[in-house]
Parts: sequence; C-alpha cells; structure tokens
Amino acid sequence: MFFPEPRIPFVRSGRGFYALVRHADVVAASRDARTFSSEPAATSPAPPSWLSALLGTPMVNMDDPRHSRLRRIVSRAFTPKMLARLETDIQATAARIVDDLIAEGPRDFVSQVAARLPINVICAMMGIPERLRPYVLRRIDVMTEYSGVRGALTSPRALRLLGGNLKAIVDLHRLVARLGRARRENPTDDLVSALVNAEVDEGGERLSLRELGSFFDLLLVAGNETTRNALSHGLRLFTEHPDQRDLLLEDFDGRIGGAIEEIVRYSSPIIQFRRTVTRDHVLNGHPLKAGDTVVLFYPAANRDPEAFPDPDVFDITRSPNPHVGFGGPGPHLCLGANLARMELRIMFRELFDRLPDLRTTGEPVPLLSSFDNGVKSQPFTFSRPARSRVEVRP
Ligand code: HEM
Repeated sequence: MFFPEPRIPFVRSGRGFYALVRHADVVAASRDARTFSSEPAATSPAPPSWLSALLGTPMVNMDDPRHSRLRRIVSRAFTPKMLARLETDIQATAARIVDDLIAEGPRDFVSQVAARLPINVICAMMGIPERLRPYVLRRIDVMTEYSGVRGALTSPRALRLLGGNLKAIVDLHRLVARLGRARRENPTDDLVSALVNAEVDEGGERLSLRELGSFFDLLLVAGNETTRNALSHGLRLFTEHPDQRDLLLEDFDGRIGGAIEEIVRYSSPIIQFRRTVTRDHVLNGHPLKAGDTVVLFYPAANRDPEAFPDPDVFDITRSPNPHVGFGGPGPHLCLGANLARMELRIMFRELFDRLPDLRTTGEPVPLLSSFDNGVKSQPFTFSRPARSRVEVRP
C-alpha cells in the first residue's frame, strides 16, 4: 500500500512510502540489505545533514561495508562475557529500584521502575563512574522530554526542547570522548577500553572518539526507551491476562523466556524502521522502483495471522514465536536483544518475587510518537511485601 507523505511546516517532505505490513515482507526486506538499504537513514524523517555532520552517523543508518565494520567492533559490548559481567549490576539496580518502590509507595510505574533500569544499565555498560551518573541522567531526562513532544515539532516548546536536546547530546559526546581518551592512555578491562583500543585478533579495528560518541547515542536511543516500554507493556499485559501471570509464576524460570518474547511480539515497542530501495525489485508481486521508500511496520507483522495463529491472543507459551519486534532477521537485527531479555527477566523476577500482587490500575498515558510505542506514565499498585511466590529452580 502506498502512502503520500503529509506536509509538515519546516520539515522536508519525501515522496511517500510503501507500507510493509505482512510478516513475510518485513522479513524479506530485513534480510535483503542490498536491495533494501538503511542509507541514508532507517528512521523517518532522515536526520538533517547538519546533525549528522555534528554528531556522526549511527550504524543503524549505514550499509556494508561501513556498517559491518562498526558492528564487528561494537559487538564487543554484547559478548556473553560482557553480558555476564553486567548481570550482577542489573540485579543490584533492580533490587535498589524495588527497595525504593517499597519505601515510596506506588505512584507511576514508568518513572519509579521502567525508566530507571535501562538507563542505569547503559551507564554501567559504558563504565560511566557513579559520581558522573547524575550529570548523565539529567541530560538524558532532557532528551526524553524532547522525545515526548516529537509530534509537535513546530511548537515553541518543541523548539526550546530541541535546543536543550542538542546541547545534552553534545555534552554526553564530550563526556564519553573524555572517557575514551583516558582509556586509550590507560586501558583497563572495561568496555570503553575494548572499543577504543585495537584488538589484534580482530584486525586491529577500533572506534574513533567520535564514533564512540555516536555509539553511546545509539545505545541511549535504541536501548533505553525500548526496554522501558517493554517493561511497562509487560506489567499491563500480566494485569490484563491474570491466567498468563499465574502460568508464569508457577514456573518463572521455565516460562519467563517465552513470556518476554510474547511481550515483545504483542506490544512491539518499536513501531517502524524504514528502508530505501536500491534497484527495481518485485516484492510479493508488487513492483518497487529504485529510490522508493518502504516502511517496515513491526506491530502489523507481529499480528499477521499467516505467521501467528490467534495473533490477538497473549500467550506466553506461544511456540514457535518468530516475531520481528527486535527487527527482522538480517544485518541490523537488534544487537541488544539479549541484554534487553536479561533486563526484563531480572526486573520481573525482582518485582513479582517481592511484590506478588503488583498490577496496573488504569490506562497508560501513551507517548505521542510514530516510532516508539511508548508509555509516558502508568498507574499501578501493590500491597505490602509478602513471602516469595516465584518458583526458583535449584
Ligand atoms: C525490548 C527492547 C528492544 C527492542 C524492541 C529493540 C528493537 C530493535 C529493532 C526493531 C532494531 C532493528 C533496526 C533495523 O532493522 O533497522 C534494533 C536495532 C538495534 N538495537 Fe535494539 N531493541 C531493544 C533493546 C535494545 C538494547 C537494550 C540495546 C542496547 C543497549 C539495543 C541496541 C540496538 C542496536 C545497537 C541496534 C542497531 C543494530 C544495527 O544497525 O546493526 N536494542 N533494535
């Protein structure tokens, strides 16, 4: 289906796009990166060229060979060894979040729980020292506030927030560049050292300090709101489907893996990414021309009845579950999927173990965005901590 692009003041409109809504089409376009390019950008609208000149291009907006070079280097952040190291940190953060929750009482699940975990994990990953975290978190708050008004680019408030947003990004670039420089001079065994110093067995490749800044941005954009929204959607889904929640709590370790995949399928935290067609091509009988834009709609693909029987049923035991919530199979498949899975597993375990009757109490306030299926706030409740109900396997 073709959609012309609406005219928005101050935003250059494109030629319109074809919507890919079938699971098979989203998979085909994700796999065939030569025909379906991520350049000039996988997001819509593409960032203006002055912004790319200022901040660099994130790998999600690149094709090979630039993309594969960067992906090879930054994959060092997501090895099983790196993830295992983070696990203790994530566990400690999740426990602290629940301690604070019990002390404060329930107000808003997003600000008290969902927003706190991923950002602390990303800071831990990048080795941001504890004393600098408030500085980083303040700037991330500014960026998040701006993302909440994305739909109203032209309002004075949005323009003011855009200015604050850019300054926050530049400040964070400077901070990680300083960190990178320090690790070049005195390498340790942390991630930043691994990224900015050449690894001999990997062809001597390393990130420039500017690329390190872009990588941090990408982590903040790709790994922050996505995971926090999955947490908020997850709690709402377990509240709306108490049978599924009981099923999970009967055998937490055995079922949490399937539950997380089903939360990501059912809620699709990312709504869409785009591709640009590089050569004339026929997709599912539809001719596409070089230069056409296609938009991959993950929520539609994730409810395609040809791929998922009873697609509107939330079923944590669904198997197989070939959802495309982390992107379709191909070179851009989410690099942080296993990290997100670990965060969700640890956070839900901590929550349900210590607050067994935790549940939402009303409708979420959605984020105005065509990109993030975001939750701005979510009312919830719980009663005093009781004994553990989560079955832990020996
Ligand atoms: C539930 C949580 C998450 C969801 C739903 C999600 C979703 C996605 C999707 C749909 C893509 C595909 C982009 C494309 O095909 O163009 C992607 C890519 C990516 N994600 Fe995630 N993501 C999540 C968590 C994370 C986390 C925790 C991190 C890291 C901290 C992360 C890092 C990335 C990166 C670096 C890419 C770009 C990969 C590339 O271009 O090669 N994501 N993610």
